[in-house]
Amino acid sequence: MKPKVVVTRRVPDRVIELLAPHCELDMWGEEDVPIPREVLERKIRDADGLYCLLTDAIDRELLDLAPRLRVISIMAVGYNNIDVAEATRRNILVTNTPDVLTETTADLTFALLMATARRITEAERFLRAGEWRTWSPMLLTGQDVYGATMGIIGLGRIGSAVARRARGFDMRVLYHSTRRNEQAERELGAEYAELDDLLARSDFVVILTPLTPQTRNLIGVRELALMKPTAVLVNAARGGIVDERALYDALKSGRLWAAGLDVFEREPVPTDHPLLSLPNVTALPHIGSASIRTRTRMAELAAENLLDALAGRVPRCLVNREVLGG
Ligand code: GLV
Repeated sequence: MKPKVVVTRRVPDRVIELLAPHCELDMWGEEDVPIPREVLERKIRDADGLYCLLTDAIDRELLDLAPRLRVISIMAVGYNNIDVAEATRRNILVTNTPDVLTETTADLTFALLMATARRITEAERFLRAGEWRTWSPMLLTGQDVYGATMGIIGLGRIGSAVARRARGFDMRVLYHSTRRNEQAERELGAEYAELDDLLARSDFVVILTPLTPQTRNLIGVRELALMKPTAVLVNAARGGIVDERALYDALKSGRLWAAGLDVFEREPVPTDHPLLSLPNVTALPHIGSASIRTRTRMAELAAENLLDALAGRVPRCLVNREVLGG
């Protein structure tokens, strides 16, 4: 009998072609609507595998309902929505899709940084609203990117790819990470800094660290107060790392110059969210890895990881190697 796999969203046909010969697929058919919790709770009961997205809460209560589950494959690099410790305790493999999205996400991070610094989306809104009356000396003036100092919080794969782009703009790169990245120090000239020092010295603070209990609300009132009043904060990692209330206050009062946000504490961010009322916020709907090629590759990689796990092979992108023992 083929293993049963629950897929929590309508995925590209290519993924269905990869999975269908090997699994009995039970797919939620909607592309733009997350699977309702009660539907997932029903489907998961006899599932051997789960193919999920970052919009699905894979918590202990759900795992309690899934005695047969052997693998959780997420089509994302971040997996803060999965209780990995619980999965590990139950010998369930957890896999993700790193590497294939690194450059695409770094591109978007840099684009968001530039858009925020140079007020691109605000300028376009201004033009479309018919407010452009004449060229004027200080109209829509922003902050220079070239030659500025970038402070990267979380210098992993994506952070390093952003640092590489920063070099092309003759930027000085500071970083703060749980671990020193000597390769990046050597090859990219990145300089390690304590968090407070990085915040005080950077013109652009770029967040690219995973959301964990340690990084939740890492940037709050105190941290924002350390930043330069001309500084720009960019978050392309996860909402929840920045305290949104504190960020709103800092931006509103002019203690911080601007923010570029691809992620929010609650997604989709409600359109009446206070941050969206501010002209100095550039907001995107979590599209860091959203190029056609990369999203397709992520979807395929998540399928490959799932199939490997179900066939007893070690998946390429295993998060909880402890399950294999030894
Ligand atoms: C997107 O945020 C991802 O984690 O892949």
